[in-house]
Amino acid sequence: MDTVLSGIRSTGNLHLGNYYGALRNFIRMQHENNCFFFIADYHSLTTHPDPKSLHANVKEVLCEYLAAGIDPEVATIYVQSDMKEVIELYLMLNMHAYMGELAKTTSFKEKARKQPENVNAGLLTYPTLMAADILIHNADKVPVGKDQEQHLEMTRKFARRFNNFYGVEFFKEPQAYNFGEELIKIPGLDGSGKMGKSEGNCVYLCDEPKVIEKKVMKALTDGGPTGPNAPKPDYIENLFTILKVVSTQDTYDYFDEKWNTCTIRYGDLKKQLAADIIKVTSPIRERYLAISQDEAFLHKVTTEGAEKARESATKTIRSVREIMGFKPF
Ligand code: TYM
Repeated sequence: MDTVLSGIRSTGNLHLGNYYGALRNFIRMQHENNCFFFIADYHSLTTHPDPKSLHANVKEVLCEYLAAGIDPEVATIYVQSDMKEVIELYLMLNMHAYMGELAKTTSFKEKARKQPENVNAGLLTYPTLMAADILIHNADKVPVGKDQEQHLEMTRKFARRFNNFYGVEFFKEPQAYNFGEELIKIPGLDGSGKMGKSEGNCVYLCDEPKVIEKKVMKALTDGGPTGPNAPKPDYIENLFTILKVVSTQDTYDYFDEKWNTCTIRYGDLKKQLAADIIKVTSPIRERYLAISQDEAFLHKVTTEGAEKARESATKTIRSVREIMGFKPF
């Protein structure tokens, strides 16, 4: 049985990108694998250190995981900061991670550009903490979106480096995973690159249907195709990319055909897109509202999850300490 791990930073509500990039894939795997899904609250400190909202943000993400369908009876759900063993592995991996390679990471360069007043060491070592999250359970597969590919590559590099340095075959080399298909990138509704919390272009899983309709109807379009079978400009392609994941193949083909024959009406496309997004998100939103009231359930899920996660993490740390030469007196 493979070990699967994934996580999402607790920096606000989850959006369609989080769902289709990571969460849904994880849910599809939970019954056949040994699954860990965690809330990356330490990671949130690199950009959002705010004691007033930290706990509420963790709770939101936790409730969204549960509402989307992670079953705590089957998979282990835990909060990163409830499993302190990960910090020890983070420290150890940092001793074998180099300034140059960390500073070259796309995510670091992007964040350093976005928050030049706060280029902290946590941002620089973000990939080692992420590697520690994965290696602490010696995961085989990591369901993530396309934007995390580079971090997974670095995780494999750190695992290999550790094994080579200490002359062991201890850490596995985990693979970014999407059922043998290309990793997904859900685009934003503003015609730009990816849907992202900091880009302000998201449809959130808990958005009210009316809000979703409004966001979709406002998406950038143009005067229509310039001729039969014309290539789609990026902002139109983006709408089709989202349609592909939320709708049926028939619906996708119908609008593709309309595009190719220059008979497309963007209003119809957007109406269909909004309706299909709402079909996916409505049940999640409804379950979310119920789950977020149930404090006893949330307490049970997180305490039991932390216990199971720590059991797995303790085993890894014990071996790593031994390999590195730590010995009790
Ligand atoms: P985060 O919180 O930015 O995103 C969580 C997951 O959602 C995916 N994702 C997307 N997928 C497709 N299209 C998009 N527009 C989109 N936006 C986000 C991300 O690829 C990710 O899978 N560093 C991670 C959190 C993390 C983690 C880990 C993940 C920390 N440790 C260990 C896996 C394993 C992050 O910031 O993801």
